[in-house]
Amino acid sequence: MANILILNGAPRKNGSPASLIKAFTEGAVASGNQVHEAYIHGMNVKNCLGCDSSIKTHAGCVQKDEGMAKIYEDLSWCDTVVFASPVHFAYMTAQLRAVIDRTWEWFNLPRNFEAKRKNVLISTSRSEDYTAILQQYGMYAMLGWEDIGHILGAGKEVEAKSIGTSIS
Ligand SMILES: Cc1cc2nc3c(=O)[nH]c(=O)nc-3n(C[C@H](O)[C@H](O)[C@H](O)COP(=O)(O)O)c2cc1C
Repeated sequence: MANILILNGAPRKNGSPASLIKAFTEGAVASGNQVHEAYIHGMNVKNCLGCDSSIKTHAGCVQKDEGMAKIYEDLSWCDTVVFASPVHFAYMTAQLRAVIDRTWEWFNLPRNFEAKRKNVLISTSRSEDYTAILQQYGMYAMLGWEDIGHILGAGKEVEAKSIGTSIS
């Protein structure tokens, strides 16, 4: 059984990734997994200050915003992270990018850097070109995380449910 965190970076709660997230979640829960979803746009998550304080202190991020505090808690709890975002100017949305940048401090705590995760990408776009967002998502493979699937494009609910179901 896996603990799955969905980082939902869509600004519109009922935007195009929503039904893919729902189908993925149905599959994952049916297989006995636990799923937490963070709808980032509705949370207090500040942008990274780039201060690198955690590299010096190993004490975590200096910003104490409750939205990001909850996401740090869920990142420690989960073993699988789903990055969900429509394509905005070729990449993930600013909402999701804010969380990704804030994981820089989180990774500077050695226990977090050593604890590897599995990851999934859910994305939608108008052009169906996912080249850049896949490259951005690929950063986590460089950190030793295991890519276990992509759901790319609105209308791929069957695929989303199947990837959710396959996790255990
Ligand atoms: C600010 C912004 C930038 C976008 N940039 C791209 C892009 O670079 N490539 C693309 O194919 N679609 C782009 N789109 C279209 C969205 O990816 C697409 O409409 C998305 O599936 C909509 O998701 P939503 O229903 O959650 O709003 C952009 C949309 C917005 C609002």
